[in-house]
Amino acid sequence: MAAADDKSLPDFDSSELGTKEFWDTTYGKEVENFNDIGDVGEIWFGEETMEKVADWLENCADVHTDDPIIDLGSGNGMMCIELCKRGFTRLTGVDYSELAVMLSKSVASSEGFGNIEFETGDLISEERPNPCTCLTRKYKVVLDKGTYDAISLMPGDSVSARMHYLATVKELMTSDGIFSITSCNWTKDQLLEFFKEHFTLHDEIKFKTIQFGGVTGSTYTSLILKQTYSDTYVLQQT
Ligand SMILES: C[S@@+](CC[C@H](N)C(=O)[O-])C[C@H]1O[C@@H](n2cnc3c(N)ncnc32)[C@H](O)[C@@H]1O
Repeated sequence: MAAADDKSLPDFDSSELGTKEFWDTTYGKEVENFNDIGDVGEIWFGEETMEKVADWLENCADVHTDDPIIDLGSGNGMMCIELCKRGFTRLTGVDYSELAVMLSKSVASSEGFGNIEFETGDLISEERPNPCTCLTRKYKVVLDKGTYDAISLMPGDSVSARMHYLATVKELMTSDGIFSITSCNWTKDQLLEFFKEHFTLHDEIKFKTIQFGGVTGSTYTSLILKQTYSDTYVLQQT
């Protein structure tokens, strides 16, 4: 694994979005709103982005509806619910905020999708094996929309937090697994640089581009990564 002072690990200024307190407060309010008026709360990066990721999975010949799928930092659970609506049957969401997990369970059961499993767990826990049950299993598909972004904004040593995150993702995936990551903070090149030791680019989900100051770019980066052959070979031998 790369050293923590590697140039491939640029750091952002920390922000409250990188703290558990922020998410607990956010989901505390969202639980209240859901109970009061049935509002499910924020889908990060919008519904269209969520649907594009779901479309990609639905159209991938290599992913079957009974493959185990985990959504990392599942928030209000809407990504799992979207996939359940499309026929995927083995869905798990994990989030370190108990209030997010409470919200996602309420939203899912109110929409008739009580079969989705939601569990509280910390993706950057140093404990190995992770005490969170769903983080000790293997998945064909590992999804992240906005969670690596949040972890990157953690106050303190966010570089080592990201290295823990990377180790968790690797541990969770089957050797032929797919990792879908959607970010608004990191560019395609930065994501590929960070994950390059263990993952290679398989596909990219394209979004509408915007122009600003003569530069054309996309608001979000969404990549589909697979484990590199040498890593999967080692996994199969152990
Ligand atoms: C930007 S929100 C994205 C929520 C959801 N994925 C979506 O797209 O709507 C980031 C989520 O990551 C969760 N999170 C942040 N750090 C985490 C960690 N170390 N372990 C588990 N969940 C974490 C937060 O509680 C929050 O739900």
